[in-house]
Amino acid sequence: MSTGQVHAMSYRYDVEGVADIDVYEAHDGYEGVRIALGLQPAEIIERVKEAGLRGRGGAGFPTGMKWSFVAQDTGKPIYVVCNADEGEPGTFKDRPLMERDPHQLVEGMIVAGLALNAEQGYIYLRGEFAAAGRALTKAIRQAYERGYLGADVMGSGKRYDLLLHRGAGAYICGEETALLDSLEGRRGQPRLRPPFPAAKGLYSCPTTVNNVESIAAVPFILRNGVDWWRQWGTEKSPGPKLLGISGEVNAPGNYEVAMGTPVREFVELAGGMVDDRELKFWFPGGSSTPLLPGSAADVEYTFEAIMEAGSLLGTGALMFYSDQTCVVDTVLRFTEFYEHESCGKCTPCREGSYWLSQILRRIEVGSGSESDLDLLLDLCDNIFGRVFCALGDGMTSPITSSLKYFRDEYERHIREGRCPFGATPPRRDIPVLEARTVGATVAPPATPQPLKVAGEA
Ligand SMILES: Cc1cc2nc3c(=O)[nH]c(=O)nc-3n(C[C@H](O)[C@H](O)[C@H](O)COP(=O)(O)O)c2cc1C
Ligand code: SF4
Repeated sequence: MSTGQVHAMSYRYDVEGVADIDVYEAHDGYEGVRIALGLQPAEIIERVKEAGLRGRGGAGFPTGMKWSFVAQDTGKPIYVVCNADEGEPGTFKDRPLMERDPHQLVEGMIVAGLALNAEQGYIYLRGEFAAAGRALTKAIRQAYERGYLGADVMGSGKRYDLLLHRGAGAYICGEETALLDSLEGRRGQPRLRPPFPAAKGLYSCPTTVNNVESIAAVPFILRNGVDWWRQWGTEKSPGPKLLGISGEVNAPGNYEVAMGTPVREFVELAGGMVDDRELKFWFPGGSSTPLLPGSAADVEYTFEAIMEAGSLLGTGALMFYSDQTCVVDTVLRFTEFYEHESCGKCTPCREGSYWLSQILRRIEVGSGSESDLDLLLDLCDNIFGRVFCALGDGMTSPITSSLKYFRDEYERHIREGRCPFGATPPRRDIPVLEARTVGATVAPPATPQPLKVAGEA
């Protein structure tokens, strides 16, 4: 199994002018559509299944299987929806694809349409992605002009239309059913499942919702073959993978790697840790995945190995943090994000995210008490698995995992009455909350202590 950096799906990124259809066509562009037109829809799905492509949006659900669930016999229109919302903190692998090689996604959407007998596709794009919006608008127009889209796709007699829809930048609209509500013009909030979108999705019609990278991968599989795709990774996690690497590395950015590469190599790929600092903790796939300690960096980057290590592959957003970073401050920032983005539909998430932020904030500024740690875990326990969608579950991951590996750091904040890293100045004006759930008495704030230099034991 070859590991390390690859240029499988990103090989056109640096080709001058590839966002233009002439250049794209000169670099194997729309070859996947030609091949797909020569196959039966079921054959396209079968190849995707054989390749073992797993969804790149977070959950890793097999794409071919997902497509085979889309009901074909309802007499209703079938829709292909691309989830281009990419709102998870730390995640930036879809936006570069759309900005630099937009036809790749347009081509993938056409192939997905042919595989599912759909006549209409939608790309639901995060509204803030202005450059991606411009690139896709031009690519879609050019694809219509060349006959890849429209009433008669490449003279095949098949119709396929593609529409770009800009969202308004709510993280919850990346959740597939909230996305569908938003696309229908309603407030984006998750729907009760079942029914799943494959049976009743957009406008109550059979629908697939797939991530940008999942969809863009399919023409490559058709063109280069299943063995080509499977040359990377493992039986259960084959293929190349686009990553966004960020945090305290010298060269944060967008990389493409072979699945199965040890995570430690990603740090090296991104230029190593800033100032040769020690890797303290890292998130494998965005802020909703449990963090892992630096000592776990030898794990292979596959769905199964990361899960065995206690986390999730998530969105391909690897964030690396050094021994100079405060884990409480980091987790607080993410929790504030979830508090802000909670859609408010269900109580444990709406109320719980507020309380989690409050408690974490008071620990971080030095006003926390020992009982706060159990209170945090108790709250997480009352959120995880009891909420309507994965946003609520995800918000507990950084908290429970950081308490698992760095409880001593939380305790140090409480003991010293300040952030030992100086990440946040000590404050005494944070309201002291009654810890009703566990009946604990909140201790009066300790006397503020002088800050020490960050990193000092
Ligand atoms: C709060 C929340 C936000 C999400 N945001 C995205 C997103 O921006 N892009 C994405 O592809 N999937 C996102 N997902 C996952 C989608 O619900 C869905 O699983 C995914 O689009 C399926 O695509 P795939 O099968 O190709 O992975 C999000 C899920 C949740 C709960
Ligand atoms: S878990 Fe949070 S984001 Fe999801 S439906 Fe409930 S309130 Fe909304």
